[in-house]
Amino acid sequence: MTPRRMTPPPLRLETLSGAALQARLPALSHLRIAVFAEWPYLYDGDAAHEARYIAAYAADPDAAVVVAFDGEAPVGMATCQPMLASHGPVPAAFRARGLDPARFCYFGESVLLPAYRGRGAGVGFFAAREAHARRLGLPAAAFCAVQRDPNDPRRPAGYVPLDGFWRRRGYVHHPDLTCVFAWKEHGDERETPHRLAFWLKDPR
Ligand SMILES: CC(C)(COP(=O)(O)OP(=O)(O)OC[C@H]1O[C@@H](n2cnc3c(N)ncnc32)[C@H](O)[C@@H]1OP(=O)(O)O)[C@@H](O)C(=O)NCCC(=O)NCCS
Repeated sequence: MTPRRMTPPPLRLETLSGAALQARLPALSHLRIAVFAEWPYLYDGDAAHEARYIAAYAADPDAAVVVAFDGEAPVGMATCQPMLASHGPVPAAFRARGLDPARFCYFGESVLLPAYRGRGAGVGFFAAREAHARRLGLPAAAFCAVQRDPNDPRRPAGYVPLDGFWRRRGYVHHPDLTCVFAWKEHGDERETPHRLAFWLKDPR
């Protein structure tokens, strides 16, 4: 008899805010550091900074973090909040292009431990965040992704960019709508600026 491959069960997704989110700060900080250490972010994260970053979502009643659980262990997370409440460079980039940031829900990031990818959590993160945007009455959604030189020698062989995944979720790339965030990459002494380009889903 040929053994059948077991399909792993879907991960449980919960949309957290406020105190429920605050209670998960250490685990979620470690998740972001682990996933963003990889290409294309190469982020040398700091747990205290990460905890402050997620605490700001917990303090915003209109923000939400969708957490993917394997049992009781968080294995992924995705953030969203009204763009007007997000980091200054994000709404500023939209205003500079004549776009009204008040219409947008901003999706800060989605991260999932590699062992759990390809099981629908990323699709679920978008569905849950778009549902949150609708609850807030925000008609449009946006996120940004770092722009890297395709010939960067640090790019792992066989790396598949997420562009196709995002297009299939209905998002449109706007390579000329960008902002700059600074972070320290592994091996660097200090933070350096990194340009990120936006993807929009705007029904207008
Ligand atoms: C972005 C990220 C969270 C996506 O996670 P993921 O869980 O692998 O994504 P999914 O499994 O939902 O989707 C991947 C593919 O599997 C498919 N899939 C597999 N099983 C599925 C299921 N049970 N239900 C729905 N879709 C499923 C999806 O449809 C999708 O294929 P498609 O684009 O052709 O439709 C993950 O790749 C990641 O953490 N990347 C590193 C961090 C990063 O760069 N984040 C983005 C910038 S912040």
